[in-house]
Amino acid sequence: MSNIKELDLGPLHDYYEFEHAVSDFKASVIEGLSSPQKKLSSKYFYDVRGSQLFDKITELPEYYLSRTETDLLRIYADEFAELIGEGSSLIEFGSGSSTKVRILLNALQSPTAYVPIDISREYLIQSAKELAVSYPDLPVVPICADYTRPIKLPFIPNENSRAGFFPGSTIGNFTYQDAVKFLRTVANDLGSGNGLLIGVDLKKDVKILRAAYNDAAGVTAEFNLNILRHINRALGVDMDPNEFTHDALWNHEKGRIEMHLVSKCNQTVYFENLEFEFIEGESIHTENSHKYTIEGFQSLAALAGWEACKYWKDSNNLYSIHYLRVV
Ligand code: AVI
Repeated sequence: MSNIKELDLGPLHDYYEFEHAVSDFKASVIEGLSSPQKKLSSKYFYDVRGSQLFDKITELPEYYLSRTETDLLRIYADEFAELIGEGSSLIEFGSGSSTKVRILLNALQSPTAYVPIDISREYLIQSAKELAVSYPDLPVVPICADYTRPIKLPFIPNENSRAGFFPGSTIGNFTYQDAVKFLRTVANDLGSGNGLLIGVDLKKDVKILRAAYNDAAGVTAEFNLNILRHINRALGVDMDPNEFTHDALWNHEKGRIEMHLVSKCNQTVYFENLEFEFIEGESIHTENSHKYTIEGFQSLAALAGWEACKYWKDSNNLYSIHYLRVV
């Protein structure tokens, strides 16, 4: 981990960066395009444009997840603050635009620091600066990293405890095994006795799910295709977004929505000295979005070393928020 000083930090207290945030990108793309079911990791959706498109998704009428989670955060903010306790630093995994955290920060009693962690460097710094301006007394310490990897958190003076915040049901974007692995990593990052507030989307009528990932305005399609633009620009690949279409389907057996980019024709993608052949109709699997039951998620968390303290859900049973504590 490097402590970066040469950047203009403006209102930021400090800024850290992990090397792995950039070095794994190329290897992962080559591996993904070489596998029998071509795939790209959903973490590469989030360049600046991808993060902005995701923010637009959160405002779509069909995408109930963000709206419902925000309502729950507003309703139960004081209860969350009580559980987290006074003088805690708040660590957000995959902080994006750092919007929802404001609801929590407004309710917390004397938080010692806010530590947003995100892989998208520019967006992270920009969002963290905006937040630091709004909370001038709160040390804001962004970390650019792949938060699925172990992270040694910076020393925060006068910290009573640490609390993790992982909203948005991003846990659904991991496979079951990776979710367990990730929650174990977070438990180690935060240390025993500390808590995690985590948003988890629930299993429901498939029509509602399909609509949420196939919105009428086509923003999700644009978001999905943007992964190609991001990879092209960052690594010099030549995938043509006009030659692929967005598809989102419910995989009943696996309990997840899958997003794919389907090739419109037979084509070859060139990358350095490599060639990747596509036949018409063949897809690149770009994202999984697993949906859970309350019990299903609690048993997953238990496998990763967390005690389920409490959960909240909306009256339509669309979405849940859980407070877990490291055993
Ligand atoms: C970030 N993540 C939880 C979103 C989801 O619902 O899986 C990403 C997304 N993909 C399509 N729409 C939104």
